[in-house]
Amino acid sequence: MRLTLDIVSRMTNSSMSSSVVPFREQVRVAGATRTLNSLSRLGRRFGDPFGAFDAPGGPTDRQALHSSLLKAGPLVKSRFGVYLTPTHAGCHAVFTSPHASSMVARPQSTIGRLLEPTLRTSLGSPFDSWFISMDAPDHTRLRRLVQRGFTPKAIADHTALVRRTADELIDAFPTHGDVDLVASFARLLPMRVITRLLGVPDSDFATFDRWGEHLVIALDRPRSLRDARNVHNTFIEIDKMFRKLIAERRRHPGDDLISVLAEKVDGELLSDDELVGTLSLLLIAGFETTVNLIGTGTATLVANRDQLELLASNPEIHIANTVEEALRYESPVQLTLRRTLAPIEIEEGHVIPTGVDVITVLATANRDPLVFDNPQKFDITRPNSRRHLAFVNGPHACIGGALARLEAQVAWESLINHFPDISRWRTTSAPTLGPSQLIRGYKHLPMRFA
Ligand code: HEM
Repeated sequence: MRLTLDIVSRMTNSSMSSSVVPFREQVRVAGATRTLNSLSRLGRRFGDPFGAFDAPGGPTDRQALHSSLLKAGPLVKSRFGVYLTPTHAGCHAVFTSPHASSMVARPQSTIGRLLEPTLRTSLGSPFDSWFISMDAPDHTRLRRLVQRGFTPKAIADHTALVRRTADELIDAFPTHGDVDLVASFARLLPMRVITRLLGVPDSDFATFDRWGEHLVIALDRPRSLRDARNVHNTFIEIDKMFRKLIAERRRHPGDDLISVLAEKVDGELLSDDELVGTLSLLLIAGFETTVNLIGTGTATLVANRDQLELLASNPEIHIANTVEEALRYESPVQLTLRRTLAPIEIEEGHVIPTGVDVITVLATANRDPLVFDNPQKFDITRPNSRRHLAFVNGPHACIGGALARLEAQVAWESLINHFPDISRWRTTSAPTLGPSQLIRGYKHLPMRFA
């Protein structure tokens, strides 16, 4: 009864009237988000790690949760039947196992069964068309077709574009006073680069910004009917935009990624549905992850002034490893999910059984003391920073790693070039964290550079 009243009262809210989600769908979605919210609250009350991670905005005491997970060993079982692998070796074993499925946001998975209804639109679930949540052979085929646009060589060819974009953005910083580094730079750089690479007309950044805010919810999970409605509407708008662009590029190809992916390769052609799914995945992945590498990475450099000084003293030498250390120290993607198709032994005597969900905790794996000496220290000269799992490894390793690395590298080089007196760099008030538990990063980062 309370649920019905709540839905009816939300329905009368004027912002709902423009929703494209039918009423019956809204009832279903409201039920699913409430169930997940209640389970998550219950988990937190009983100190369950699944509940702790699922807290809005991420765990309240992240450091304590991470240390207790690492201490608990390579395999931790949640009361909800979900397993967590906090160690580097455990995550690595899962990512490279042929028995780990990525079809997680689907009804066959415990978490997926609850999550999927909150994301399903009238067009279906976005995860059905994203190769990130497919297994071989579909995953292999789609990934192979997309990968040619993301080889290190293909990405290096875009260096000038990334530099030009970074310079344009920094030139627009106010001469005096604060700049919100996330809103004015860290967010806009990856957004402009990915839209330009894909060949999406960049006249409407306000729309992309709104989409970005809603999509980060999709990568986390909708926590209310309003969240779900925003996510649904955004997916539908993106679908419409890409269908229009694909039709245009099939008629008049250009040198952008949409045209490249719309061509036949080795006799294979992506269908319009596959193409729309793949492009929306690239757009979202391109938007919502690199912003956090640049945002949290800059804040970390400012908080560790000796490391910033070292970087600025010789950027050519230190920049590449600074990017790796920033990825290790504050993993933009904190955790990923797999489902076991057969038992996976992650260490002698530690076996994950068949048919369960596994949360691979990248944030803890990247601070595993068995791999990284003094892991809580941010050290841009660390010899093995690159062993981080921020992009995971195995068949689903991030396709955009080279692009993300290039963007972060150019971002810090350009900031140092424009503002060489790094003693003046400072954060001017407390940064605001974004809402996601899965993606960690700042929504606002007020700073001064001069
Ligand atoms: C700092 C920035 C980035 C981080 C931390 C990051 C992280 C990740 C992670 C952890 C995964 C694996 C997810 C899983 O297996 O569940 C992934 C996959 C993926 N990423 Fe990224 N990513 C970043 C930037 C990008 C960019 C810029 C693009 C493209 C424009 C991109 C495209 C993809 C794609 C397409 C996949 C799916 C790969 C597959 O399933 O085979 N990412 N990324």
